[in-house]
Amino acid sequence: MLATQYDPAFAHLAPAIAVDEVSHHYGTGEARKQVLFDNRLAVRPGEIVIMTGQSGSGKTTLLTLVGTLRRVQEGKLTVLDCPLHQASDRDLVQLRRRIGFIFQAHNLFSSLTALENVRMALELQPDRGSRRAQNRRCREMLEAVGLGDRVHAKPSSLSGGQKQRIAVARGLVHQPEVLLADEPTAALDEESGRQVVSLFQRLAREHRVAIVIVTHDNRILDVADRIVKMDFGRITRDARVGEAARIGEMLSSCEVFRGVTVRTLTELAEAMHAELFPAGTRIIRQGEPGDRFYVVRNGQLTVRREGEANPLARLGPDDFFGEAALLTGQPRNAHVEADTDVVLFSLDKAAFHRAMAERATIDEEVRSTLFNS
Ligand SMILES: Nc1ncnc2c1ncn2[C@@H]1O[C@H](COP(=O)(O)OP(=O)(O)OP(=O)(O)O)[C@@H](O)[C@H]1O
Ligand SMILES: [Mg+2]
Repeated sequence: MLATQYDPAFAHLAPAIAVDEVSHHYGTGEARKQVLFDNRLAVRPGEIVIMTGQSGSGKTTLLTLVGTLRRVQEGKLTVLDCPLHQASDRDLVQLRRRIGFIFQAHNLFSSLTALENVRMALELQPDRGSRRAQNRRCREMLEAVGLGDRVHAKPSSLSGGQKQRIAVARGLVHQPEVLLADEPTAALDEESGRQVVSLFQRLAREHRVAIVIVTHDNRILDVADRIVKMDFGRITRDARVGEAARIGEMLSSCEVFRGVTVRTLTELAEAMHAELFPAGTRIIRQGEPGDRFYVVRNGQLTVRREGEANPLARLGPDDFFGEAALLTGQPRNAHVEADTDVVLFSLDKAAFHRAMAERATIDEEVRSTLFNS
């Protein structure tokens, strides 16, 4: 089952990459072998998705399909509004200029210098500017990957990691809107790997580049907004890590969850769904039965009792509400209203109780903190 959590940071944007029921075969006749099965994946502008999975599971195949290096055989695949499954060769040529590729085999030209290799990526661009401007841009890119002092070196005189960093610079120099990277840090030591992924993060945050990184490198998992796992040609897991970790942290600072294990908190966080409520919405009505627990992601709310002039409390980011009715089974004891547009993460009663049941003693503890304090 795929988690289809809604992330308010990206949700209003149309996906830059939309993979829909995509399957793929290699070979024909006897040798025909299916390697991708009904995959779905959406990557929004500014999002970093890390794809993991064992060797041969189909990661590179999927990446080359998205990158238009292979033709879509089955299913729909749309990249930057171009439907690849029905695109002409001309459409694909135009689209490729907007994509950055960093692939395992770096394919550098041995007779060209580092700078000239990077400049190759600009040659395909329609508005590439003067040679001087191109050189300046290429030099900046090489500096950004830590090769500012090797711009005139030929690949044969560079280490594997240095060559890999030229490939990174070449993949980014034309300011792509989609970046596809296959093991970009495999040949790099800790420091240069970090330098490369920090650069990716900056591109995602500042330029809203949609990024897919295939990697086995556990050292870089923390840059992902989502981690997707591929097993035997199928995406079997699609988890919004950063967000779940953030909600988990928020939950762990809630008094009601004191003593609950990190594992349970993570499960709770993963089961939570975000929703946007416009200003003025009454989210909880006093007297109604309680069926959800809420954490505020952003916006401001007011808690008030029926007939009382002064509000009971004001709530903002990281505050939570709605737990009392879930635990006691009593009706809601106040109204909760959105003063601004708010994004809330919420958990339904069943999920809340399932997580709690696992830790019955803690449930007791929660009740006592709530009602004896
Ligand atoms: N050009 C090809 N012709 C035939 N079969 C191929 C071809 N490329 C890949 N395959 C097969 O398709 C399957 C998926 O390969 P793919 O390269 O996509 O895996 P991967 O997940 O990228 O693996 P790795 O982590 O080792 O790079 C494998 O069984 C592989 O043998
Ligand atoms: Mg591969």
